[in-house]
Amino acid sequence: MTHFNIVTIFPNLFTEFFASGIVGQAHTKEKVTTSLIDPRSYTTDKHQSVDSPPYGGGDGMLMKASPLAKSIENLQSPGKVIYLSPQGRVWNNDIAKQYAKEITNMTLICGRYAGVDQRFINTYVDEEISIGDYVLSGGETAAMVLVDSILRFVPGILGDASSAEKDTFADHLLETPQFTKPRDILGQAVPEVLVSGHHKNIQAWSQAVAMVKTYFKRNDLLLASELSSEEINTAKDSLSKYSNEELAVMGFNISEVKCIKDPTKKWSL
Ligand code: ADE
Repeated sequence: MTHFNIVTIFPNLFTEFFASGIVGQAHTKEKVTTSLIDPRSYTTDKHQSVDSPPYGGGDGMLMKASPLAKSIENLQSPGKVIYLSPQGRVWNNDIAKQYAKEITNMTLICGRYAGVDQRFINTYVDEEISIGDYVLSGGETAAMVLVDSILRFVPGILGDASSAEKDTFADHLLETPQFTKPRDILGQAVPEVLVSGHHKNIQAWSQAVAMVKTYFKRNDLLLASELSSEEINTAKDSLSKYSNEELAVMGFNISEVKCIKDPTKKWSL
């Protein structure tokens, strides 16, 4: 069982999120439990203030250490304490998988305003995590990203036990394009191979498209994968038999189509 404590001054933001979709099902199936802790309930002044101006001046207000510290002190099992912050280690699918495997109790601290008193971080936080190089107005959306991406790796939550393993990034490749009924719409027909019923060909096509798509869109991921230039070239050659229109339906743009069809252009990583 995975347990998340969420420390936030906006607990209501999480109510729908915890009740909906895969995260909602995880609660129903009792694969996860969550607690919402509002640091405001640990304030002692009449205005219940959780923020205060920074020493030395500066823009905005800071979250005070004491209400956050009491929020943690009053937890039965805080487990790993994570502060969501743009200064943290950048989150990815590999870390989500590792956390799902190794950590059963987690406390996610959602900052607001211009940040939190550093002394709280020094004393209570085990790790700072960022979800990307941009600044959010609070850690709540980042906490939702962590909960969602971790739960996908907790066994028994996704219908197909292995589907998180097949997701984009699971093998450092982007996902292959997918299509549903009708077979013909918007002037584009579903690639023939997908309606052939030939499982092996479908696999090979999917893998080749995923590799070539990753080559064009996210070369950085290929470096993390174990694929060689030869494998990418073989994948590209296997797609060169398709017409420009068919390649466009698969999601390649015009310059990518030209590269795929050019036998002289070999790719290197
Ligand atoms: N809080 C504000 N910006 C953030 C970010 N990029 N990641 C995580 N928490 C944040």
